[in-house]
Amino acid sequence: MTTTTVSPAPLTDPALLTDPATHAEGDPHAVWAWMRAHAPVHRQPATELPAFWSLTRHEDIRAVYQDGATFSSARGVLLRGAARGDDPGGGLTLALTDAPRHRKLRNLMADWFNTRAVRALNGHIRSATRAVLDRAFAHGTCDFATDIAGRLSLSVIARIIGVPERDHEDLYRWTDEAFEAHTSLLAHPRIVEYFTELLFLRMEEPTDDLVSALVHGTVDGELLTEEEAVLNCENLIGATENGRLALIGGMQAFLEHPGQWQRLAADRSLLPGAVEEILRWTSSATHSMRVAARPCEIRGERIEEGDRVVLWLPSANRDESVFEDPYRFDISRRPNRHIALAAGEHFCIGSTLARAEMSVLFSELLDSTSRIEQTGPVRRLRSIAVNGPERLPVRIVPR
Ligand code: HEM
Repeated sequence: MTTTTVSPAPLTDPALLTDPATHAEGDPHAVWAWMRAHAPVHRQPATELPAFWSLTRHEDIRAVYQDGATFSSARGVLLRGAARGDDPGGGLTLALTDAPRHRKLRNLMADWFNTRAVRALNGHIRSATRAVLDRAFAHGTCDFATDIAGRLSLSVIARIIGVPERDHEDLYRWTDEAFEAHTSLLAHPRIVEYFTELLFLRMEEPTDDLVSALVHGTVDGELLTEEEAVLNCENLIGATENGRLALIGGMQAFLEHPGQWQRLAADRSLLPGAVEEILRWTSSATHSMRVAARPCEIRGERIEEGDRVVLWLPSANRDESVFEDPYRFDISRRPNRHIALAAGEHFCIGSTLARAEMSVLFSELLDSTSRIEQTGPVRRLRSIAVNGPERLPVRIVPR
């Protein structure tokens, strides 16, 4: 069994965390480790970003997630430049809505993401996985990020939303272009146009898909507006970026820890635990932001109404007071109380789906390949919102 223990070198400037280069080439874990020990509730003064509080401990982050009445999501859940103001999707999409509307909107979508729905989708996840792997086998080498993880996660969410199979390739190309350019999916005119057209089609002819539910479902007796329906579709596609990053980060973790891959190959009962460890290890959502809806105190620091509070998830998932030897990748880690998928009322609605995609992909890789090797350098995302490899060149040799 190969396990690596890496303790970060001391690095102490919290401002580094707002620089995308830190997450691409630097060592944000070293900064978070220092902050957990010395400044667990830290106020970052305004720059081109507005001032914000940083939380780095598991306990504090979990408590904020669980107190939606004090910590609002409606003005945005990601840090944005001060000049850009609040998120224009505030109050319109699931992630950017507070109770009680949030619960009602979530109920409209929940049926497509619960355990039963995901179980029913398992056959599709498996055939989509086999299709991307067959393509990779045919090429010999590929980029695990785009050719495998990206195609797989897009194909699954597109099916849930109700995008016909013939349009998956176009949608995949547009989202890949938007991710590549680091712009919002809304900046891609074809994506908005596409979902608007789909919406009108389902208005006339509803089917059993998520778009139809968004078009015909009501919240407090009112239909959603066209803007709300389109934004929620776009948001679901955007949210799968996290699922994609967990798949790529999981593969990278196994390539760096071949002993863990061999353990899994020898004992498949370790798979559910491996999925949880990948979620903890990769923590692909780098932060969630909340805005204080009323004054409060965290560890003796006074948070004023309107203050932004940033929750650094990868830090929570390396908190040494919760995880034994947190810098070790260990697929049999137990307990594993990670909060990579958030907590409380905004707990990731795609969690069951993301776990299913990981289980299927890694078990199919174990079944159908004799060797997987990295063929070039990994390139990490330059972003403070999500983190992980955006390029992972590999050679996959079938059995
Ligand atoms: C199939 C893939 C996924 C889909 C469709 C998805 C979808 C969503 C959606 C719609 C929300 C908003 C829920 C709400 O406000 O009630 C959400 C929240 C969240 N998801 Fe996921 N997700 C996926 C995978 C992941 C993965 C793999 C991670 C991290 C490892 C993740 C982390 C989160 C976090 C941290 C939140 C809370 C955001 C906030 O409210 O601040 N998601 N997810």
